[in-house]
Amino acid sequence: MYAGKNLLLFLFVLVFKLCFCIDSITRNQPLKDGDSLISEKERFELGFFSPGNYSSSRYVGVWYYKFPERIIVWVANRDSPMKNTSGVLSVDKTGQLVLFYSGTPNVSIWSSNISVSGDNNNSAKLLDTGNFVLYKDAFSQKNFIWQGFDHPTDTYLPEMKLGWNKRTGKNKFITSWKSPEDPGTGQYSYRFDVNQTVPQLFIYKGLEPIMRIGSWNGITYSGISEYTVKAVGDVSKLLYTDNEEEVSTYYIINSTSVITRFVLDDRGVAKRLNWNPELRKWDAFWTGPYSQCDNYAYCGEFSNCNPVKVADQGCECLPGYKDKSEGDSPTNGFEGCVTKPGAVMCRNGEGFRKMSGLKLPDTTNALLDSDLEIEACRTFCLQNCSCTAYTPSNITSNSTGCLTWYGKLVDVREFSGGGQVLYIRVDHDELGMYLLFSG
Ligand SMILES: *[C@@H]1O[C@H](CO)[C@@H](O)[C@H](O)[C@H]1NC(C)=O
Ligand SMILES: *[C@@H]1O[C@H](CO)[C@@H](O)[C@H](O)[C@H]1NC(C)=O
Ligand SMILES: *[C@@H]1O[C@H](CO)[C@@H](O)[C@H](O)[C@H]1NC(C)=O
Ligand SMILES: *[C@@H]1O[C@H](CO)[C@@H](O)[C@H](O)[C@H]1NC(C)=O
Ligand SMILES: *[C@@H]1O[C@H](CO)[C@@H](O)[C@H](O)[C@H]1NC(C)=O
Ligand SMILES: *[C@@H]1O[C@H](CO)[C@@H](O)[C@H](O)[C@H]1NC(C)=O
Ligand SMILES: *[C@@H]1O[C@H](CO)[C@@H](O)[C@H](O)[C@H]1NC(C)=O
Ligand SMILES: *[C@@H]1O[C@H](CO)[C@@H](O)[C@H](O)[C@H]1NC(C)=O
Ligand SMILES: *[C@@H]1O[C@H](CO)[C@@H](O)[C@H](O)[C@H]1NC(C)=O
Ligand SMILES: *[C@@H]1O[C@H](CO)[C@@H](O)[C@H](O)[C@H]1NC(C)=O
Repeated sequence: MYAGKNLLLFLFVLVFKLCFCIDSITRNQPLKDGDSLISEKERFELGFFSPGNYSSSRYVGVWYYKFPERIIVWVANRDSPMKNTSGVLSVDKTGQLVLFYSGTPNVSIWSSNISVSGDNNNSAKLLDTGNFVLYKDAFSQKNFIWQGFDHPTDTYLPEMKLGWNKRTGKNKFITSWKSPEDPGTGQYSYRFDVNQTVPQLFIYKGLEPIMRIGSWNGITYSGISEYTVKAVGDVSKLLYTDNEEEVSTYYIINSTSVITRFVLDDRGVAKRLNWNPELRKWDAFWTGPYSQCDNYAYCGEFSNCNPVKVADQGCECLPGYKDKSEGDSPTNGFEGCVTKPGAVMCRNGEGFRKMSGLKLPDTTNALLDSDLEIEACRTFCLQNCSCTAYTPSNITSNSTGCLTWYGKLVDVREFSGGGQVLYIRVDHDELGMYLLFSG
């Protein structure tokens, strides 16, 4: 009887403890370590956590609510860990979102760091998209003045925009954790290069490109075969914008029951994952880098990386080019290709050879003309002797848009399905040879 009463009390305390949930944070309703915010439709939860299995540091983060494993999708104070559980997340008297050690005095750890106008009715809320937002007005909750989606960590969720704001110059991207035990800003990032006529997505290690995802082709990025996109297409759609204001990308999902995320792990590997509720596991629809052909410029200049080829590390020369190190010691590995001796590719009857199923070359030195049709594109390239290749820029309609390359062609690979065509400038003799073989 006595034991039973205690048990009841224990259960009551347990149940009470399990969900001391509030739906928003205001100046009068701060969030203490141990409490959490839950989004309206119970998709996401925001609270305090310690990463990995050993770390005792405390962070404020967002994860999927009531999920078999705790998947952290966002971290507020990633580079400012808390050393104990006296942390409090609140709105201060100026309306700023603040994280501090409570005590006398309170010691600040992290803040939203936006200029606010002395309004103390601000309130923070966790949305069902996983976005943690700060509203100017607690009662109407219309326009937010700060959002977690503007400060991504290692995860890119549906509806979250990545990209470059041309006005402010700010480039928004995801960055890996330092390790599974430390969500601090790691060395890998997944981001657009800026200041280029044709924007491209890359995975960088510091400033060094590890993998090029490539430029937009109307359906996907050139480095992600549209076959992959079709496989994911039943649940999501990829979008891209390049206008006066911005270069940006995001993806949307059709059904709210689908749980999907894009994460860049601490080893620099990016994954698009969909939760499989039947098998209770994450299905990776796309992983990169995946094979050695994904490593940036793996085969050197004027080459193609063919994942099914065994010899020469899977490397081969583009039509009209020959192995640079041919005859040299084979221990050096493949070093790229050069123009064949005697080839003349300037107003000497030269033309183009077509290759299909490719990831297009790095567009760093390419030009884009979205209005040019494919025949005009060919003429445009042919007329300029430094133009080495061309292709339609938009694969949704095979005759529109014109991409032209000048000088070296790097980071071309072949896909086993999908991919784009590339017309490579070759010497007249090379053209004849091609006709002979293909005829
Ligand atoms: C924590 O431990 C579990 C169980 O041993 C393991 O599966 C998991 O990978 C570990 N997590 C980290 C981040 O090391
Ligand atoms: C937690 O750590 C902070 C920073 O070291 C310190 O100011 C605060 O007093 C600590 N709180 C407790 C309850 O130990
Ligand atoms: C510390 O923060 C708490 C919670 O917001 C607040 O009630 C308290 O007045 C603060 N203490 C000091 C000394 O500022
Ligand atoms: C807060 O913002 C200001 C102005 O944008 C900036 O100079 C400052 O470094 C920021 N502080 C922190 C802690 O991020
Ligand atoms: C905050 O909200 C209360 C209640 O609606 C209102 O009376 C007060 O004027 C508001 N304060 C500001 C600074 O907007
Ligand atoms: C982009 O170009 C502008 C103007 O040339 C330059 O001021 C800026 O530093 C460049 N930004 C980057 C990130 O290279
Ligand atoms: C690609 O072509 C399609 C069909 O003509 C058009 O609707 C779309 O806007 C084009 N996309 C780009 C990025 O030019
Ligand atoms: C979204 O769902 C509708 C109806 O179920 C379907 O017709 C459409 O193809 C779907 N779109 C995407 C992008 O999955
Ligand atoms: C060929 O194209 C390059 C790159 O756009 C340009 O710098 C060069 O002036 C062009 N040459 C001619 C003859 O048009
Ligand atoms: C692409 O071009 C080929 C040959 O010109 C044509 O048969 C085909 O219909 C075109 N496809 C699209 C989607 O425009």
